[in-house]
Amino acid sequence: MKVCPGFRISPMSRSKSSSKRPLWIIVLVSLVCILLIMVYLYPPQQYSSCYLLSSKFCGHFEYWLPPISAKVLNDDELTARVVMRDIISMPTVPSKNPKIAFMFLTPGSLPFEKLWDKFFLGHEDRFSIYVHASRHKPVHVSHLFIGRNIRSERVAWGKISMVDAEKRLLANALQDTDNQHFVLLSESCVPLHNFDYVYSYLMETNVSFVDCFGDPGPHGAGRYSEHMLPEIEKKDWRKGSQWFSIKRQHALLVLADSLYYTKFKLHCKPGMDGNKNCYADEHYLPTLLNTADPTGITNWSVTHVDWSEGKWHPRAYRAGDVTFELLKNLTSINENVHVTSGFKRVVMRKPCLWNGMKRPCYLFARKFYPEALENLMNIFSNFTVF
Ligand SMILES: *[C@@H]1O[C@H](CO)[C@@H](O)[C@H](O)[C@H]1NC(C)=O
Ligand SMILES: *[C@@H]1O[C@H](CO)[C@@H](O)[C@H](O)[C@H]1NC(C)=O
Ligand SMILES: *[C@@H]1O[C@H](CO)[C@@H](O)[C@H](O)[C@H]1NC(C)=O
Ligand SMILES: *[C@@H]1O[C@H](CO)[C@@H](O)[C@H](O)[C@H]1NC(C)=O
Repeated sequence: MKVCPGFRISPMSRSKSSSKRPLWIIVLVSLVCILLIMVYLYPPQQYSSCYLLSSKFCGHFEYWLPPISAKVLNDDELTARVVMRDIISMPTVPSKNPKIAFMFLTPGSLPFEKLWDKFFLGHEDRFSIYVHASRHKPVHVSHLFIGRNIRSERVAWGKISMVDAEKRLLANALQDTDNQHFVLLSESCVPLHNFDYVYSYLMETNVSFVDCFGDPGPHGAGRYSEHMLPEIEKKDWRKGSQWFSIKRQHALLVLADSLYYTKFKLHCKPGMDGNKNCYADEHYLPTLLNTADPTGITNWSVTHVDWSEGKWHPRAYRAGDVTFELLKNLTSINENVHVTSGFKRVVMRKPCLWNGMKRPCYLFARKFYPEALENLMNIFSNFTVF
């Protein structure tokens, strides 16, 4: 736009003679009108013409400039960003025998080990098992689980020790370069499909299944602390269930990160900042992966849990609840739901897209009481026909 130079003429004509005042006022008013019309018709996109001029009039156009958002990163942030970017775009070590690592985070023995044994049987070369038992040494009933306990430490609910246990499992599982996908499971989780289905669901895609959403309510944004600045801004704060299923690059990324991890360790814990509660296991991974690789995660978890009763704990299934119909229902869900916390309770539903196609969302489910084992064993082969 060549409107700015026009204004520079006017002060000169003003100084010439006062007798010409009406004329220059008319010229000025018409120039302003033309200018306004032009600005309206051609909203400025490039500001170079004004940047080149020091005119006071041009200065007013700074209103039109978008805020300069390119954040200046400190050394640690810059280092973390480049390392994370390259880990994400790295091809994985080629494997002749790609496997899924099933990582069990449990206080002790696994009540559904017999069911998992049934699930794994016949697929011995395509999985590996890791058990982190944080309280009691587990008693194993399946030979597939024997010798699979890793060195473990105490885990306190909601504290950083939970994330530490997850990282310990990942570090053990990453030692085996055949492991390409890493699934975190609890002692109350059960499989909803047969092994072949689970294997192709997780392996024939290039994303991680990590639950992640922005909850503006007290149990989401309300847990954020300003102490996390400058690395973690409130707008990047995310929440999600801890039960992830992630690809190898993301597993490596979690272990490579110390910048974000340290922020969570220091500033996300129960009873912080006076009376606020923050639970690192519900925020660390979603926030980290959403920052590092937002399109590389699905934003939902493949482990189903039923929060619909609106209580402090999710619904737990008793033996009597476990019917063919219940499991059929769980396996046919193809939409994921996020509900914001607080009075508003905004419900967000999204289709579960797998490689762009609408598919059932869930491969595993929790929480089941140990007493449900018998029924699950009886109907497992019936509902996992595919
Ligand atoms: C996954 O693969 C699809 C197509 O094959 C590609 O468009 C997409 O960018 C890939 N995503 C990631 C995170 O690598
Ligand atoms: C997940 O959510 C983030 C925003 O939080 C978005 O940028 C990203 O595209 C979403 N991923 C998918 C696969 O929809
Ligand atoms: C299965 O889903 C149907 C339809 O949503 C519902 O009416 C039924 O109660 C569900 N059954 C169980 C056992 O959850
Ligand atoms: C599972 O299927 C078998 C054979 O088709 C049948 O005998 C059995 O009753 C079924 N069990 C349940 C719980 O539906």
